[in-house]
Amino acid sequence: MIKLHSKIKLHSSAVLLLCFASCPSIADESAIEEKYQKACKICHEAGLMAAPTVGDAAAWAPRLAQGNEVLLKHVKEGFKTMPPKGMCTDCTDEEFLKLIDRMAK
Ligand code: HEC
Repeated sequence: MIKLHSKIKLHSSAVLLLCFASCPSIADESAIEEKYQKACKICHEAGLMAAPTVGDAAAWAPRLAQGNEVLLKHVKEGFKTMPPKGMCTDCTDEEFLKLIDRMAK
């Protein structure tokens, strides 16, 4: 059992090493996707409580126009009916901006 576990670990770190050299953006994208699925999606996919929906450029445009600084502040502190951090407690500023970018497109 322990042996099997360490084998899996070795294998995944080999994949990670391979990826480190050739596909950092793919790894980054899947981490963002995972956070989107876990947090933002709950409201932003269907427009729950009037949240701007994914890909609705018209709904996002006036919000994006506020600039990254204001958007980040709103996400981190919460905005109207959106809870603080959009329910992603371990998201960094950079990740929040990538998540916003992902949803606004
Ligand atoms: C519990 C529901 C909910 C979750 C989860 C959620 N949001 Fe929101 N979000 C909202 C609602 C509702 C609004 C619109 C608020 C309004 O303008 O009335 C909003 C608005 C926003 C805005 C626009 C703010 C502005 O200044 O206009 C951004 C940016 C945003 N969300 C990002 C995110 C990100 C990133 C995540 C995931 C980390 C997330 N949200 C998760 C409900 C949610």
